[in-house]
Amino acid sequence: MKDETIIKNLKTIMNRRGISQRELANMIGKDETVISRWFAGKVGISTSSIKLLETVLGEKILIESDKKRALITGVTGQDGSYLSEFLIEKGYDVHGIIRRSSVDFRERIAHLEGHPQFHLHYGDLGDSMSLVKVIGMVRPDEIYNLAAQSHVQVSFDSPEFTADIDATGVLRVLEAVRACGLEKTCRIYQASTSELYGKVEEVPQNENTPFHPYSPYAVAKLYGFWIVKEYREAYNMFCCSGILFNHESERRGETFVTRKITLAAARIAQGMQDCLYLGNLSSLRDWGYAKDYVECMWLILQNKIPEDFVIATGVQHSVREFAYYAFKHVGIELEFRGEGLREVGVCVKVRGNVSKDLVGKELIRVSEDFYRPTDVVNLWGDPTKAKAKLGWNPSKTSFEELVKLMVESDMAKVASEGVAAKVRTNLAEYLEKGIVK
Ligand code: NAP
Ligand code: GDD
Repeated sequence: MKDETIIKNLKTIMNRRGISQRELANMIGKDETVISRWFAGKVGISTSSIKLLETVLGEKILIESDKKRALITGVTGQDGSYLSEFLIEKGYDVHGIIRRSSVDFRERIAHLEGHPQFHLHYGDLGDSMSLVKVIGMVRPDEIYNLAAQSHVQVSFDSPEFTADIDATGVLRVLEAVRACGLEKTCRIYQASTSELYGKVEEVPQNENTPFHPYSPYAVAKLYGFWIVKEYREAYNMFCCSGILFNHESERRGETFVTRKITLAAARIAQGMQDCLYLGNLSSLRDWGYAKDYVECMWLILQNKIPEDFVIATGVQHSVREFAYYAFKHVGIELEFRGEGLREVGVCVKVRGNVSKDLVGKELIRVSEDFYRPTDVVNLWGDPTKAKAKLGWNPSKTSFEELVKLMVESDMAKVASEGVAAKVRTNLAEYLEKGIVK
């Protein structure tokens, strides 16, 4: 690292924060002439002085390489973990923001901890000071704002928290970037959502489809979408939203419908659960693979101009179909009978190691507990713009492949969990609602 670059970084920070040479000298307990000699290039700046300056200023002046730096909020989540892997592979230095928790919820990124290109910092989207501190310290080239209370059902139970993080949290990130003087250099990706289309006004949905949010989560995310657009236009910032349709994976949270189904199918096939309770089986979604979607987040920030994009596969399936294929993969053929709350998924055939005793049993039942006060039932995305402008391939992983890889992963997980899984099963059914029956 050349001294000139360190001095340049130091001068930028001093100018931005209005710190004079004399004030800096006082802050680090040195004579002002030492600073003048550094600035004139007469003496080199020692490693211990660099460390002292960084500690006193709370910002980095030694940038160890010319690697691009990315900061990911929500790094412990499904998308955050895949995006970290993707960016590390691209050669980035990846910094993630984590929250303090009384138990360790970092299993999705455990394999990355200790990697020389992977760094974690404490922060919270509800805490502006922490954001300014981390962004000022990391000085990222790109920020991926993935942190959110991301469960739609939970947003009905915790609407205020959801608004604070999913709406105001976005504003806090944008303002923190401005406060650190990075608005001209730092590109920002906002994790927006197909939930904005909510009570849909047309199918399939594209970038011009009107929004009609239909849950506290979607209303909060709509604010996030508009504030990003506002900062793009008002301050010329490179900030964009990816309007992502549902994307799933082996790492999907266990209370989202796809993962709830694949885990239950694996448990039922291995004799560890009797029945799966679901809500609206007729709800339609455009489900893609999360690993494919994080590439698009990156592509959106590499685009020449800041623009919003719909990211989807362009293929739609119902919850019922997802369940049918997931159970089929574990060796259970289902037939759906009845309607509404009385609809059931009955086992009509088994194969492989699955017990024949399951034949004739109701393995899926509908419970009102999983109905939402307002439900979004017809999401279907049109990825034409992303295909044309970003060169992104929406058909990399098919629906059938996605179901298969999730089921296979859960079959292995359940097999290895053994008895412990049996104990948790009763809880897992109702974790989503925060209740135990
Ligand atoms: P996820 O698995 O639920 O992860 C959410 C992340 O946000 C976690 O890392 C969580 O940290 C973090 N977080 C929550 N509250 C926070 C706070 N106050 N401060 C800092 N971090 C906080 O979600 P995901 O599926 O990866 O989705 C990523 C983003 O894309 C979310 O914004 C989601 O709304 C959006 N999105 C997702 C989809 C999808 O289908 N997956 C589709 C469209 C949009 P903890 O681990 O500490 O809880
Ligand atoms: N979670 C859940 N549990 N959903 C169920 C169940 C059940 O037992 N039974 C039926 N569903 C229906 C829901 O009513 C909804 O219509 C659909 O399945 C999908 O629900 P989720 O998997 O919880 O996802 P989501 O679509 O509400 O939200 C996800 O996708 C959004 C993008 O459209 C989340 O990842 C959001 O963060 C994301 O923005």
